[in-house]
Amino acid sequence: MVVVCPRILPGCRLSQITRLLSTKAASVNGTKVEVLGREYTGDHMTNVTPHLLSHIGRDLHLQPHHPLRHVAQRVTQHMYRQYLSPRGNPLFSVHSQLHPVVTTHQNFDSLLIPKDHVSRKKSDNFYINETHLLRAHTSAHQSELISMGFDNFLVIGDVYRRDDIDASHYPVFHQLEGVRLCTLKELYGTHQNMDAYHLFENGERTEDHQGVHSAEAARRMEAELKGCLLGLATSLFGQDTEVRWVDAYFPFTHPSWELEVQINGEWVELLGCGIMEQEILANAGVQDKIGWAFGLGLERWAMKLYGIPDIRLFWSTDLGFLSQFRFDDPATPVTYKAVSKYNPCINDISFWLPKDQQYESADFYDLVRSVGGSLVEQVNLVDSFTHPKKQLTSHCYRIVYRHMERVLTQEEVNDVHRKIEQEAASSLQVSIR
Ligand code: DAH
Repeated sequence: MVVVCPRILPGCRLSQITRLLSTKAASVNGTKVEVLGREYTGDHMTNVTPHLLSHIGRDLHLQPHHPLRHVAQRVTQHMYRQYLSPRGNPLFSVHSQLHPVVTTHQNFDSLLIPKDHVSRKKSDNFYINETHLLRAHTSAHQSELISMGFDNFLVIGDVYRRDDIDASHYPVFHQLEGVRLCTLKELYGTHQNMDAYHLFENGERTEDHQGVHSAEAARRMEAELKGCLLGLATSLFGQDTEVRWVDAYFPFTHPSWELEVQINGEWVELLGCGIMEQEILANAGVQDKIGWAFGLGLERWAMKLYGIPDIRLFWSTDLGFLSQFRFDDPATPVTYKAVSKYNPCINDISFWLPKDQQYESADFYDLVRSVGGSLVEQVNLVDSFTHPKKQLTSHCYRIVYRHMERVLTQEEVNDVHRKIEQEAASSLQVSIR
């Protein structure tokens, strides 16, 4: 038996320590995919890689003193203060340990995302199998929590997307979702003549409101939502921060907006939000309430708030990084100081794509991540052409290698680069040029 002394790994709860020391939190073995104690059978849709699965269970948003946790706590505190019950208790509940594997129904259908919507593509998501995937957003939990009877809640968790590789994108990141449902009374307070007010009507859908919502109810919800989120943004980024609302589109809200703030002269999108589609509430069994929702990316907020230059740093276990956030009050102002900046090593890779087999750049990006791990800072497609006679297409990708915490030697990089070439040739059927 392994006896674990919790002092060895400060910041880990005992359950996590045992998990770290015993089995992996997630693994893929033949057609069997195991994630946090649940087992799934893989199929033609399975595209999770061992490297990706190794991130599951790290729960950065729950680690004491982690910058993502500081930001999540600040948002939570803001929501607690804004919405109190008549007895003075916070109205919002927080759900930060929901299982990351969700059904396609939860991630897409329950949010009215059309069957043919691009966001469902295999090249954009990490599928466990045809019916299950690693959640691509925390919105995936809205419907189930509403069905369970929650009216005011936050969901905080890790989300997974196949995306570009650069300093601000990583296949795993963290989101915080907020949902608030209101009755007529909550939205209008108590008036003498309540019969004059109503949440619903049978009208036309316009730019400003859904057909089922009264224009006044939609206006009040919009004002409340925007007031709450502006307060949140200025309490974190400063009262003098320039902010603006931009009209947006999400299948699950109407109307929808994005909130942008100006940081160092640049407009940065901070969150998406809107009035929840009434159909979502109806499908979850709620008839007499109207809702608003928002979703934000914790890494984006933390990078802007602390001046963290690279998204991979959040995964660092190096004390040079972590010790800069060792404070108990999450509102402590800090600016991240780079431990040091090591030189990048840049290597190109060119190959012919397979002739009679589907190829997508995203498959190559996953492969680079799996083999190169966090040594890879960026991968870009720098050249693509089709040979007229051979009828073959060639891609050239530039891979930027850089370690966040130490110097990389050219041999080390060449070694990884060669492994990427070999792996690409064998698993993607490309021919290295
Ligand atoms: N789920 C969206 C995303 O990941 C973010 C979002 C937008 C969440 C609007 C919401 C919302 O709840 O109302 O991009």
